Amino acid sequence: MANHQVSIKKIGVYTSGGDAPGMNAAIRAIVRVGASIGIETLGIYNGYVGLLENKIQSLQIRDVANIIQRGGTILKTGRSLDFHKLEIRKAAAQILRFHGIDGLICIGGDGSFRGAHALWMEHQIPIVGIPGTIDNDIFGTDLTIGFDTAVNTALSAIDRIRDTADSHDRVFIVEVMGRNSGFIACHVGLAGGAEDIFTPDINATVEKSIERIKDSIKKGKRSSILITAEGQKPGRAYDLAESIRKKSGIDAKVCILGHIQRGGSPTAVDRVLASRLGSAAVDTLTKGFCDIMIGTEGPNLIQVPLELATTKEKRSPIELVQLSQILAI
Ligand code: F6P
Repeated sequence: MANHQVSIKKIGVYTSGGDAPGMNAAIRAIVRVGASIGIETLGIYNGYVGLLENKIQSLQIRDVANIIQRGGTILKTGRSLDFHKLEIRKAAAQILRFHGIDGLICIGGDGSFRGAHALWMEHQIPIVGIPGTIDNDIFGTDLTIGFDTAVNTALSAIDRIRDTADSHDRVFIVEVMGRNSGFIACHVGLAGGAEDIFTPDINATVEKSIERIKDSIKKGKRSSILITAEGQKPGRAYDLAESIRKKSGIDAKVCILGHIQRGGSPTAVDRVLASRLGSAAVDTLTKGFCDIMIGTEGPNLIQVPLELATTKEKRSPIELVQLSQILAI
């Protein structure tokens, strides 16, 4: 965590990386909490990409009306490879200074936070991060904005798949998002009564899964659902299905949920979380603290150094996989 000496009058806010339901609620909170203490908020569009293209506009309290219930992000988002370059970050800092922006709030994931941390270290632009990603894979916070909504969206799809799996006595492999992180997979798996859960950071073998499926058939269960996190690229479920077919003859159907999980109206949990994080981020900047992420620990909001949030790994909750296997007998 760092201290800054700037009297904050103008805050810039941007959303970056994959969008997540609840980002709009955070933007709304930042603009309105800022306005209530005389701070102007400027919206930076399309993340770092838009910052470099000077896509920056003042946001008034009415500009954020009627957005708390909307998924996506009114500020749009982007992924910028260019921002890894020193000279590009220098250009970004100049644009921020030109607009008189004296503090920044970054809503995004760990990649976005790396850029934010660099802006502070190299150009002393006070910056606070708000964790926003459906993956929930940021170290130092229990929850990220969008995770709860994504889990509920995936879960309602799985409940539907179970109906048809049951009617046909079929095995289904459902692939959820999360890249190499298994948070969505583990939560959805346990909540959806999955027979097994595969995530890249938890050891699981197809053989064990097949044993489990065969065992449950013996016990009278005719259909099974396996959940897998996508891993490095979508399509992992097809590899799993092929491997199960080769090793057991069982013909598993595949369903890849994909970007459906990133859209939709945020749940109450995400709206409340985003509003609290947005408010705390403004408060933190104006009190002279920066280079931190506001996270959650149980019911409390906490401050986590951005460096920690971007360098440490948050492991998938293996205990949920184990419990899911026990309960799916
Ligand atoms: O935002 C996180 C995430 O949804 C991951 O779960 C997923 O792997 C990735 O983004 C997909 O990104 P894109 O939409 O850029 O392909």
